[in-house]
Amino acid sequence: MTDEELLARADAIAVRAYAPYSGFHVGCAVLTRDGAVVEGVNVENAAYPIGVCAEQAAFSRAIVKGYRPGDFTVAATTASPCGSCRQWLAEMKVERVVFRNGGRIVRMTVDELLPEQFDAGDLA
Ligand code: THU
Repeated sequence: MTDEELLARADAIAVRAYAPYSGFHVGCAVLTRDGAVVEGVNVENAAYPIGVCAEQAAFSRAIVKGYRPGDFTVAATTASPCGSCRQWLAEMKVERVVFRNGGRIVRMTVDELLPEQFDAGDLA
């Protein structure tokens, strides 16, 4: 599957976002090493800070299905990943991230998205 095809999956799933407060629908599609695609959308809440981002929803679903950090090759999202989602992308050890930003399609590694990241090694 190409990055563009994965991003198209993210675009398609974004319509299922539950975003009544921001009106900003985000979709995320994650490609696993075994070729599966796991999708997520943002899920907002009247208590604004506890809403969940599309990336977090996608990875949470993938974990429930049995995938683990390192099992993911690409994450495609319809928006530039927020700071928290960059930390999630780092935790999940995704090889690269593809996203839309200001009409452009951007491809970056997690190290580029979140340099000098806090990770499990810091807890040792
Ligand atoms: N949002 C995401 O789902 N992912 C991101 O990485 C950026 C922001 C959502 C959160 C909120 O529901 C809406 O976009 C507006 O911030």
